[in-house]
Amino acid sequence: MNKDIAKRNAAEEAVKYVENGMIVGLGTGSTAKIAVDLIGAKLNDDFQIVGMPTSIRTKLQAEELGIELIEIDETDSIDLAIDGADEVSPDMSLIKGLGGALLREKKVEKKAKELIIIIDEGKLVQKLGRGELPVEVCSNDYEKVGSKIEKLGCETKLRIEDNGEIFVTDNKNYIYHCKFPNGIDNPRAIDKKLMNIDGVKDTGLFIDMATKIIVGSENNVKILE
Ligand code: A5P
Repeated sequence: MNKDIAKRNAAEEAVKYVENGMIVGLGTGSTAKIAVDLIGAKLNDDFQIVGMPTSIRTKLQAEELGIELIEIDETDSIDLAIDGADEVSPDMSLIKGLGGALLREKKVEKKAKELIIIIDEGKLVQKLGRGELPVEVCSNDYEKVGSKIEKLGCETKLRIEDNGEIFVTDNKNYIYHCKFPNGIDNPRAIDKKLMNIDGVKDTGLFIDMATKIIVGSENNVKILE
């Protein structure tokens, strides 16, 4: 599978749901980036939207495209959000955040009446936790927080930049990548336990949030809802 074509096919389908005048949550990551470019290309005198970006990276991209933007706290409800994901299970639960933007993504996407997730078919899994689950934590006492997370039965690795520095999120937090050896049997319970740990800011588990999954492959798209 050519992943780039599959991602583009999914993004093209998702952008069809963007209507004039909508407030749209703009996702982060390589697939969402294509969708944001396509939204930018759709704008003209008769077709305008207002974007709510999920990261500084996406904000800069949208500004370059001339998309009008609003801040996260400017409204509690948005029409639509389009974003990628790292894993999607059959009940449409997601792991997101390997792009490092999970906290803002969740804040924006919780406001969305419709959340469209765009993925290539390689992201579909039977059970979440095939790969790592990102968890955003406060940078103070992060080592203690990491040990508490490990007690839930996973191995943790602090996210590090290519230059060896600790990765710092847009909200000035750190990220642990958590690997559960046999995957995540009960995502809702794990999410709750993680969120109960002092110092955990948010998790990459997005449960009961996606309303549509657009799965791109090289020659077509499939929609799950
Ligand atoms: C960003 O923090 C993530 O949630 C991305 O949406 C996710 O990692 C998917 O990214 P790609 O589209 O680059 O695979």
